[in-house]
Amino acid sequence: MPDLSELTQTITVRPIAYPQTYDLRHRVLRAHQPKEAAEYLEDHEVDSLHLGAFQECRLVGVISMYQKDQPDLDGGYHYRIRGMAVEPELQSKGIGTRMLQRGMQWLQEREVPLVWCNVRLSATAFYQKYGFTVLGPEFDLPPLGPHKVMVCSFTD
Ligand SMILES: CC(C)(COP(=O)(O)OP(=O)(O)OC[C@H]1O[C@@H](n2cnc3c(N)ncnc32)[C@H](O)[C@@H]1OP(=O)(O)O)[C@@H](O)C(=O)NCCC(=O)NCCS
Repeated sequence: MPDLSELTQTITVRPIAYPQTYDLRHRVLRAHQPKEAAEYLEDHEVDSLHLGAFQECRLVGVISMYQKDQPDLDGGYHYRIRGMAVEPELQSKGIGTRMLQRGMQWLQEREVPLVWCNVRLSATAFYQKYGFTVLGPEFDLPPLGPHKVMVCSFTD
């Protein structure tokens, strides 16, 4: 069994088709819900981005980004991050960071001014580390539990 930190160095991140996100999303984010709960309405939209992290041929991480304005903020052409999930035994090895960086690069190339997400409390520290700040109060997102809106502006 190779060292996991070495494995992570072999990770490649590339665009994938949205149905490829379903299995990881379901297992990591929505295991107690029906499989269809891992399919999001915006998945098929042409201006969405779906990235996969691959360890050789194995898909080990997914992230999706949708053009969706943050309802409590002025302006527009915001993007929303959704469905970020890393294979459980490979979490905290840098894979989420690699996917987020690639996604943020894609957004900056499109001159997107702001990206936001609804973040479960257990993941707020991850997003904080990459410059996201909390917007507004904590709220419940049944059946997933408490969340916070987090935002990152490219124009500040
Ligand atoms: C959140 C998630 C996508 C992050 O991906 P990852 O590959 O585990 O994260 P990374 O290894 O790139 O983490 C980067 C940093 O954030 C920290 N971090 C990662 N997940 C964290 C968490 N849940 N809480 C606090 N810190 C976290 C890591 O410790 C690391 O910091 P370090 O380099 O100082 O050690 C992944 O842990 C995951 O799938 N979690 C379960 C699903 C989830 O919560 N998704 C987000 C929904 S809002």
